[in-house]
Amino acid sequence: MDEIRKKMQKLEEKVRHHQYLYYVKNSPEISDMEFDQLFKELQKLEEANPGYSSPNSPTKVVGSDLDNRFEKFTHKIPVLSLENTYNIAELNEWIQKTGIEHKYSIEWKIDGASIVLYYEKGELTKGVTRGTGGVGDDVTENIRTIKNIPLKLKEPLTIYVRGEVYMGFQDFEKLNESFGGKFANPRNLAAGTIKYKNSIQVTKRPLKIFTYDGYIPEGKVSKNSDMLEIMKKNLLPVSEDICFAKGKDIPDVIADFQKKKDALDYPVDGLVIKLDDISLRTKLGTTSHSPRWARAFKFDAIMKETTIINIDFAVGRTGKITPRANVEPIQLAGTTVKYATLHNQDYINELGVGIGAKVKVAKRGEIIPAVEKVIEPGPSGVFQLPQDCPACKTKLVKVDDSVDLFCPNKKCPDREKNSLIFFCQKKQMDIEGLGEKQVALLYDKKFIRSVVDLYDLYKKKDELMELEGFGKKSVEIILKGIEDSKQKDFKVVLPSLGLSEVGHKVTEILIENGFDDIDKIIEQAKSENPMESLLEIHGLGPRTVDSLIKNFTDKDVLKTIEKLKKAGLKFKAQVVKKSDFKPFENQSWCVTGSFENFQPRDKALEIITHYGGKKVSSVSSKTTHLLAGEAGGSKIKKAKELGVQIVNEKEFLEMLKEYGITL
Ligand code: IVH
Repeated sequence: MDEIRKKMQKLEEKVRHHQYLYYVKNSPEISDMEFDQLFKELQKLEEANPGYSSPNSPTKVVGSDLDNRFEKFTHKIPVLSLENTYNIAELNEWIQKTGIEHKYSIEWKIDGASIVLYYEKGELTKGVTRGTGGVGDDVTENIRTIKNIPLKLKEPLTIYVRGEVYMGFQDFEKLNESFGGKFANPRNLAAGTIKYKNSIQVTKRPLKIFTYDGYIPEGKVSKNSDMLEIMKKNLLPVSEDICFAKGKDIPDVIADFQKKKDALDYPVDGLVIKLDDISLRTKLGTTSHSPRWARAFKFDAIMKETTIINIDFAVGRTGKITPRANVEPIQLAGTTVKYATLHNQDYINELGVGIGAKVKVAKRGEIIPAVEKVIEPGPSGVFQLPQDCPACKTKLVKVDDSVDLFCPNKKCPDREKNSLIFFCQKKQMDIEGLGEKQVALLYDKKFIRSVVDLYDLYKKKDELMELEGFGKKSVEIILKGIEDSKQKDFKVVLPSLGLSEVGHKVTEILIENGFDDIDKIIEQAKSENPMESLLEIHGLGPRTVDSLIKNFTDKDVLKTIEKLKKAGLKFKAQVVKKSDFKPFENQSWCVTGSFENFQPRDKALEIITHYGGKKVSSVSSKTTHLLAGEAGGSKIKKAKELGVQIVNEKEFLEMLKEYGITL
């Protein structure tokens, strides 16, 4: 049973992680369908093991887009999500249950960012993101810049309106062109733009809105169709394409919508089917995640048929083995696709796929193409991943209960090569002249085995110039690139080492919290109780802390660091000089709630750390002060229990004034 609990916790963490990538980072790494599969797997496990299901499971709350740079706004109505269906059979089951004779609306599911507009007596007062569904980010200033959002309604209505902010394809393409194609798709750009801190920047982005739902606290509207009419009359942009039909006719209406989809100038990722009658809606109610009176019908991504010629493997720098199908080339969403991922053995088994199989390949949301369906299984049966690493023949292992296989050999040539490629790439040390191809060649020709060797390469200048394609000039560029990389700050050096969980964000958090020197980190990892103070740091969870300790007590890692230090790399951050005046010295501050003068509230903590204090993310016996703003939560209770001094905003401002610190 413990195994199941563990599996559920892992799955919860995974779902949350992908929600974060989608809603906060606007940069998803898996397709909607893959996400929904994870989500449904968790739902199933929770149904079968209700005792293990946590009250904050992502199946019970909507995916949060909250971002601590914005002021929070408590929604006046629960802002729920939708349950997704992917095929007509699934949808029909719901229609049968809900009522085939009832009237439903069928409308586009626009692919953008969810927003609630609050109008009081006809005036737009707030524009708020969905957030957690209960509390959202106040992005009013940005919302005001969107041209088709009326700032004033025709009537003095108090109405709460839900809508989707989006960017049209043409507008997106024009804009993306001027940025050298750096944005992945209009959805991510629209969702990212409404979270800009500078609303002047937002005015430069051609955002639009479609509104689809309204709530009038004092009104008695009995049909959603009537509500949409009221909204239209008040200049709120409602889609012209909304159709109404009886339950039994929905499949035909869907077929019509699907024919029109490709001609649309804005992104949609499906349809939404909703009961029209409000009293029926109320009767059916909602779950904490989504209404029972509506369903999303998600469109399949464009899929093309092809044949698997071969299956090979990538051995990543962490040792993870990813099987990859080499397919007969096909044209998909504007590119030629020759490879499609097969993720892992579980995925292969589920599909029942092998070499020679006729398959359908899809590319969703600009993500790596994947084999999605099998039309005819191959003649050689279901493919089995090898037991040994394809690169070094070491026996592959499973780590924890991950579905992936790993090569545990740190000296595996593919792992070494990919670690080197990672170290040199743009997002990391950005070493000029050392792209993927060059690094692979230098590795294959045995010039380099690890990042340490890069810094000895200058000794082999003459031999390098003998290499095919490596003239005098390119060797000079490479050697200069390597030399210049010694000037890169610690905040770049550390994540470039590719240690698990030690990316840019974690490095930044460490530095901000005083771990601005590798020796301090190593010392902490080696200390008697290394977990405690690391866990207090805001933004470091138990998994990260565990990895940090493992990494910085690992002999090989320490040896590499030592050698790189000798080579001249920076292992101390260039910290902005802290004040010599330290009124907060020996104090440990935690923060809760929101503040009028410190937005985001981290600004208050910055002052504290600048003037000698420490910031912590949770209240513990070591915390000396809790800075409590509006609507502070459980931290206040904990602080009271532990006798931690609670300071409100006014008192904090007075404190600063007393110390002569100006904002
Ligand atoms: S109805 C309670 N209608 O899809 C009502 N949502 O995946 C729930 N969306 O959060 C929403 N177009 O951001 C509805 N025509 C539409 C929509 C739509 C896009 C978004 C919305 C929602 C998400 C759920």
